[in-house]
Amino acid sequence: MHQREHWSTQIGFIMAAAGSAIGLGSLWRFPYTVGENGGAAFVLLYALFTFFLGLPVFISELVIGRQTQKSAVFAYQSLSKEGSNWKMLGYLNILSCFIILAFYSVVSGWCLSYTLMSLTQFTKGKTPDEIRQVFSILASSPGINLFWLFLFLGLNVGVVFSGVKKGIEHWSKILMPVLLVLLLVLFGYSLTLEGFSKAFSFIMLPDFSKLTPSAILNALGMAFFTLSVGLGIILTYGSYMGPQEDIPRTSFIVALMTFIVSMIAALMIFPIVFTFGFAPEGGPGLVFQTLPILFSKLPGEIILSTVFFALLFFTAITSSISLLEMLVANFMEIFSWSRQKATIITASITFLIGIPCALSSSGALFPNWKAIYGMDFFDTMNYITSSWMMPISGLFTTLFVGWKMERSLFDSELIKGTKWRYLLKPIFFSVKWLAPISVLFIILEQSGLIKFH
Ligand code: TRP
Repeated sequence: MHQREHWSTQIGFIMAAAGSAIGLGSLWRFPYTVGENGGAAFVLLYALFTFFLGLPVFISELVIGRQTQKSAVFAYQSLSKEGSNWKMLGYLNILSCFIILAFYSVVSGWCLSYTLMSLTQFTKGKTPDEIRQVFSILASSPGINLFWLFLFLGLNVGVVFSGVKKGIEHWSKILMPVLLVLLLVLFGYSLTLEGFSKAFSFIMLPDFSKLTPSAILNALGMAFFTLSVGLGIILTYGSYMGPQEDIPRTSFIVALMTFIVSMIAALMIFPIVFTFGFAPEGGPGLVFQTLPILFSKLPGEIILSTVFFALLFFTAITSSISLLEMLVANFMEIFSWSRQKATIITASITFLIGIPCALSSSGALFPNWKAIYGMDFFDTMNYITSSWMMPISGLFTTLFVGWKMERSLFDSELIKGTKWRYLLKPIFFSVKWLAPISVLFIILEQSGLIKFH
């Protein structure tokens, strides 16, 4: 058995966890989901769910991970009795991570493509509508999507190969600050657009009549997705934590950073949407279709656009490596494989699942998928993972910590390294009662088993 690696510093852990959390979820998925779900009321739910439901799950995962120093499957197994079914939760996590990583890599591939397109000035001489069209052309080009998917997964393999400290922590520490600075610069540009005030009210002033019936579950899924919780990833990162680290404080910092970045992303994109008169419910292409229009109107377009899409790619890779790392860590433990072998095999499986995702808009594979399931393959994977698999796994994670794990283990784990001892009781209360009951309620209501409106 080899020695488990650990983060070298607390800030290294925060950067890696924030790197996992902040990603395409905040910058790509959040804005278009806000648009599709009616704006500010959805944002408000997202905020409440992030801090009152997502954060307790985040903390629970760190507690399990640090306590056991193992990855999901073995962690659940070692904290429960021989022959118990809790390790199934670990397997469910693995399945969800494969699916998310697959479609996430397709979107990340679009980011790489847009970086190259920016360098070759793809907006030159095009009207705003023509610029938007380019996204549809890209999304429905099978070969090009597969190419970028392959490249992106290859880059992930490169980082995860080098392990926790030299790979993940090192790159997150460099890339995260660059990202934050660039984001603020672009947000500054959007502030000057005439559509800003309309965008501001769309995002900040709730109109509950606009809330669609599925918005509540979507907001929960969104909060879990952006925090990376419910899938054993934070658990795996927790297993690389030493005893001196402060779980409540680092968790809160990560949740706050993620929330702020999501808000900045929405406030950066919607002014463009309103300034140029597009529909807010633009779907998954929103970021790719709107920002190039803004860039094309600004001086220094090539630099701005290239830097922005490179940044999107950076945030994507700091998140995707967490998904891959979770898979690799579990496979290393389950099959006693070397890190290298586990990395190659899990990345190859992901590539296979990624193929139908990459080909879904073109209809090159499963042409009747949409007619049968109501959304294309990519959207189906996106939907079932965040709206069902993550909330259900999150629910079981809190049930495990609140009801199955010994209370004294939870207390001692949480108290180690923290000055916020007085938070122990409220945190345990939300892990045991608030989070599971609310999540269960939302799931039951969405599945039609109970009705309250
Ligand atoms: N949180 C990341 C984002 O917002 C995506 C992500 C990374 C993720 N790891 C995850 C989502 C685990 C769900 C589960 O882009």
